[in-house]
Amino acid sequence: MIYIVLGTQWGDEGKAKVIDYFAKDFDFVVRFQGGANAGHTVYVGEKKFVFHLIPSGVLNKGVSALIGNGVVLDIEEFLKEVEMISRAIDVSGRIWISNRAHVVMPYHKLLDKAKESQTTNAIGTTQRGIGPAYADKVDRLGIRIADLFTSKEKLREKVKLAFEVKEFLLKNYYHIEALPTIEEMTDTLMVLAEKIRPFAADTEKLLQEAHHIRKNILFEGAQGSLLDVDFGTYPYVTSSNTISPAALLGSGIGSPNIANIVGITKAYTTRVGEGPFPTELKDELGEKIRKSGNEFGSTTGRPRRCGWFDAVATRYSSAINGIKEIFLTKLDVLDELDNILVCTGYLRKDGSKLDYFPATLPELEEIKPIYHVCPGWKQKTFGIKDFSQLPANAKKYVEFLEVLLGRKISYISTGFEREDVIER
Ligand code: GDP
Ligand code: IMO
Ligand code: MG
Repeated sequence: MIYIVLGTQWGDEGKAKVIDYFAKDFDFVVRFQGGANAGHTVYVGEKKFVFHLIPSGVLNKGVSALIGNGVVLDIEEFLKEVEMISRAIDVSGRIWISNRAHVVMPYHKLLDKAKESQTTNAIGTTQRGIGPAYADKVDRLGIRIADLFTSKEKLREKVKLAFEVKEFLLKNYYHIEALPTIEEMTDTLMVLAEKIRPFAADTEKLLQEAHHIRKNILFEGAQGSLLDVDFGTYPYVTSSNTISPAALLGSGIGSPNIANIVGITKAYTTRVGEGPFPTELKDELGEKIRKSGNEFGSTTGRPRRCGWFDAVATRYSSAINGIKEIFLTKLDVLDELDNILVCTGYLRKDGSKLDYFPATLPELEEIKPIYHVCPGWKQKTFGIKDFSQLPANAKKYVEFLEVLLGRKISYISTGFEREDVIER
């Protein structure tokens, strides 16, 4: 059985909680794209875990966690995370990194920061070096995990090739003086190589074999579909493909039968960083949702921008992913609102209607949402585990979203704890 679970909005939909919820029925959980830009939070009892690289399913004892070739890996961050989890549970022999994954180097982070701070149209990245690392991958200048186990000379050559032009750029264009040397970076890599050697593997082979003997495999998406480099709100996107086909590319599993593609969808919308957000609430109501949803970035701590549910955007992303069913999260965050608005279409400046998510920034910035007003339920839904116990207006809200998305909402999350889930 293979499941792909991913976010249908701009990230932070509650993917990690859902992965943790599903993981008990799976043997492998796999990250296939992105890097330490992700911030995946899981609460188990009193304990809070925030994962950036390691698949959050690892908290389940029987699960092997795999970081695929599509991920860009910050090795120091990864090792910190292993240490963090090891304090709580035994993960030995359960975490694997693809030999083919690319390494995020110090110059990638420096470039990301420099670019973001010295431009008038910053993307609002997490400054984790993600864009520059993927750029090097495509430019064939990347350093891969397997390269760390060749020889110091070969590694130094690779670092030199990748760094020379960047050094010139960082010094002479961005005027950054404090730069690491090729020798220092090579030495550091040699030390890190020994630390991650036990985790490195041909993970595509592991997965293919696991699939062959009918093990259950769960793919954990990072970011969200509207941050996808092809289908998102370009250029205000991340630098990887975040949508479902990326699970195959970023893991090398082959062309398996995918039993399910589950779209994690927040009952409202949030976004961190810059870029268009048609249903954004820039008033006290947005502030109220931010507070009750605790909408602050798990990676950067930045306040998340909040707004109403956008059915046009989510229908678009559901179609691109081939989403079969929806896992709706954070319904409880809306408990206190008098009315809840849902965007059902857009209005262009000339008054014409649009019911498809537009491709260009000028269009996205021009459109105004057409809203349907749903009456609030003004009752606590936090922790409810049975659909029949939801207030009538909450049920109507869920059913209305289902109609707009043309997909079944099979699960509803009503709290941050593992057990706070309604299965329908
Ligand atoms: P991810 O990046 O998609 O994994 O999401 P994040 O971890 O960045 O942010 C989601 C936050 O919402 C986390 O703090 C979760 O614990 C929390 N959360 C997830 N589902 C629910 C829910 O149904 N209700 C509430 N109140 N919080 C939730
Ligand atoms: P999870 O997996 C929300 C956003 C950044 C920025 C843009 C590009 O926790 O949902 P990057 O550092 O990737 O080059 O930044 O993408 N972004 C996320 N927003 N959740 C995430 O991950 C994100 N990862 C990147 O805020 O707007
Ligand atoms: Mg997150």
